[in-house]
Amino acid sequence: MPHQSLRPRVPRSRRLIACAFACAMVLPAASWAVDWGKTAVAEVSLFYPGQMSWEKVLTASSHKGATKFRAGETCHDCHRDEEAEMGASQAQLTGFAGRNAVTVQLRAAVQGDSLHLQMSGPAVDGKAPSVAIMLGNEALKSTAQAGCWAACHDDAPGMASDSGQKLGKYLPRSRSRNTATGGGDSVRPQAELDVALTAGEFLDVLEIEASGTGERGHVLDKLHMGELVGAASMRIENGRWVAEIQRPLQAAGSGQIALEAGKVYHLGIALHDPGSEGREHLVSLARSLSIGSGSADIVAASQ
Ligand code: HEC
Repeated sequence: MPHQSLRPRVPRSRRLIACAFACAMVLPAASWAVDWGKTAVAEVSLFYPGQMSWEKVLTASSHKGATKFRAGETCHDCHRDEEAEMGASQAQLTGFAGRNAVTVQLRAAVQGDSLHLQMSGPAVDGKAPSVAIMLGNEALKSTAQAGCWAACHDDAPGMASDSGQKLGKYLPRSRSRNTATGGGDSVRPQAELDVALTAGEFLDVLEIEASGTGERGHVLDKLHMGELVGAASMRIENGRWVAEIQRPLQAAGSGQIALEAGKVYHLGIALHDPGSEGREHLVSLARSLSIGSGSADIVAASQ
């Protein structure tokens, strides 16, 4: 197939302007080869989660779904299409003044040996947010069932059991003592964390800053962020922000999840509007992602 036909169908003038910005920053020319018009759109609802931590979700006195959640039902099983309502009620409960909810369009494609993701949504005051994707595999049941919530604890900054511990995101798997107030400083020895890393029991994180800078990292004992090998970009187009990120399918080292054709993974999206920090974010419930083909909420078809 001629290379030209794979380019997105945008007027030549706009393409040149976009490229003048994007190519000057971080986006290699190869990125333009993804034809987003050929990909399916998944509408993903994000909402303000308040202080509903992993521990609160598991506790019957703070969450009506706790018993069935413990028995294995997923957040999405029970709360599909309730996100906006939950965001509004949590915002009211905690006096949060930002957006309660937003719908993000997610597209995915595989090209060569890379996964490409595109997200877009309405911009506030014409400004781009920062967006992050947490990706996991079936090795860790808690994240397959709950997505980001497995990393969201009651002793994190701004949460109900925060007493200045300055703990960020972590997975219960990394702690030896998980209580109703969180796992605190009971971090398992490095040798045990290494076993979890080898087994794929962590969340692989991709982040796109409002500036378009991409980062890559993982969550296990804490959030480790580093350089993105791949490409990322952010732009504003017709009042919407459009974020794109690309990563190799293969894992290049510890803390990276290898993506294999035909397999299903799960992901959660988090968005920070300009000026919001920490838990003042909008998050999605976990969705499934399949690579190449298969049945999932989002299929990253090969191009
Ligand atoms: C078995 C079904 C079930 C599962 C699984 C479940 N929930 Fe719930 N959840 C409920 C019910 C029932 C309520 C109470 C709804 C109400 O009060 O309107 C609730 C309430 C909530 C609320 C408060 C909603 C509000 O209006 O303020 C949040 C937030 C929430 N759940 C998040 C989650 C998350 C996150 C997960 C997964 C980690 C999850 N739930 C899993 C059934 C479930």
